[in-house]
Amino acid sequence: MIHQACISCGEKYNADEILYSCKRCGDLLEIKCDYDIIKAKLEKSDWQSIPLSVWRYKDFIPIRDHLKIVSLNEGGTGLHLCPRLGNLLGVRHLYVKNEGENPTGSFKDRGMTVGTTKAVELNMKTVICASTGNTSASLAAYAARAGLQCIVLVPSGKIAYGKLAQAMVYGGKVVQIRGDFDQALKMVLELSEKHKEVYLLNSINPYRLEGQKSLAYEICDQLNREAPDRVVLPVGNAGNISAIWKGFNEFRKLGLTAKLPKMTGIQAEGAAPIVKAIKNGSNEIVPIDQPETIATAIRIGAPVSWKKALRAIRGSKGTAETVTDEEILEAQKMLAKYEGLFVEPASASSFAGLKKLFESGKIDKDEVIVCVTTGHGLKDPDIAIKISEEPFEVEAEMESLEKLLGFSKLITATLVSRCLR
Ligand code: F0G
Repeated sequence: MIHQACISCGEKYNADEILYSCKRCGDLLEIKCDYDIIKAKLEKSDWQSIPLSVWRYKDFIPIRDHLKIVSLNEGGTGLHLCPRLGNLLGVRHLYVKNEGENPTGSFKDRGMTVGTTKAVELNMKTVICASTGNTSASLAAYAARAGLQCIVLVPSGKIAYGKLAQAMVYGGKVVQIRGDFDQALKMVLELSEKHKEVYLLNSINPYRLEGQKSLAYEICDQLNREAPDRVVLPVGNAGNISAIWKGFNEFRKLGLTAKLPKMTGIQAEGAAPIVKAIKNGSNEIVPIDQPETIATAIRIGAPVSWKKALRAIRGSKGTAETVTDEEILEAQKMLAKYEGLFVEPASASSFAGLKKLFESGKIDKDEVIVCVTTGHGLKDPDIAIKISEEPFEVEAEMESLEKLLGFSKLITATLVSRCLR
C-alpha cells in the first residue's frame, strides 16, 4: 500500500493526509510504495513502448486516477553525448541530461505534473510555493493547466527575468518578498499549515519528488538499462538530488538496472551548506545566513531536504564540491560553445563542478558521467548577454559588411594570386 513515512522515525501516514513534516518528530516525509505491486503492474503493462516521458513511468508514480493527470508533455529530455567537452576534459563518456528541454524550461515540470495532479486528486483549489524562480514558473503553468489558483513567493529583485515573466504570464499571483528564498519558504510553510485549503508544492511535499525521480529512470533507459557511474548536478533546496537517488534505487530494486551511480552534488561557493557538511564529515548542516551567488536559482542557505541529500551523497559513495561564480560562467560558455547547449548559470554549475573534480584528480577518466543541466539559458538572458561578445553593427550595405567580415581583403588576395599564376 502506498503511504507516507517519516525518514527519521519511520512513522506512517495515509497517502492522502496533507502534511509537510512528521507529526511525531518533525522530520521530512517520503512516499513508500510496495515494489511487488509495481513489479506485477509492470509485467502486465506496455510501459516500454510508451515514448520517453514522465508518464511512461505511471506504474511507478503514486497517482490513482490517471484520467486526472495534469500534463504539458514533461520529461523525455535529451541525454546528449558530449564528445567535444569530454575531449577537452579528458573524460571518455560524458553525457548531458538537458532538463531545459521541459515545457517550462526546467526539471521542475517533472515534479509539478505529479504535484498538481495530486492537488486535483485531493480536491484542492489553491496551490502555493516559494521559489528562486523555476518552481514558480512551473507551478504557475501547471496550475493554469489544471484551473487551480496559484500563489508564488519570490525573493524581491533576486530572480531571473525570464522566470518572473513566466510566473506572471501564466497568471500566478506573484508576491515579491523583501527577503531571501529561505524566508519565503518558511512563510509559505506556515501559511499552508495554518490555512489547510492552500496546498504547498515545494519539494518538501514528497509527491513533487515522485515526479522528479523519473529523471533517473530516463537516464537508465537512455543508456540501455544501465545506470551511469556518476551523476553530477546542482544542489539548492536539495529536493532534486534526493528524488533522483530514489529513482535509481527503485530501478535497481525492481531489477531493471544492476548498479547505482555516485551522486555528486555541486553548490555555489556562497551558498554551500551541504558541501561543507560533506567535506567536514558532519551529520548536520550549518545554514548560511546570507547566501550569495550569480546563480540565483541555487541561492539558498538553509536547504530543506539537506538530510535526504546527505544520505544520497554518502549512500552512493559520491561527493560534493563548490564552484565560484567565475567557474559557473565559464562552464556556461563552454556548454554553449562546444556542445550547443544553452543552460542557465545554476545548471552550468554541474559541469563546472565536474571540471573541478576531474582536474583535481578525484574522478576517473573512464567513468560514464551524466551532468544534469537543470534549466534553460533563456531563463536568464541578462547573464547570457553579459558574458558574451558584443554584437557588431554596420551600415546596411555590402561593402561595410564584407569589410567587417574580412571578405574584401580575402577576395582581393585571391584575385592577385590568380593573376600571378
Ligand atoms: N537548478 C535550477 C535551475 C534550479 O532552479 C534549482 C532549484 C536547482 C538547480 C536546485 O534544485 O532545489 O532541488 O536542489 N530551484 C528552486 C526554485 C529552488 O525555486 O526554482 P534543488
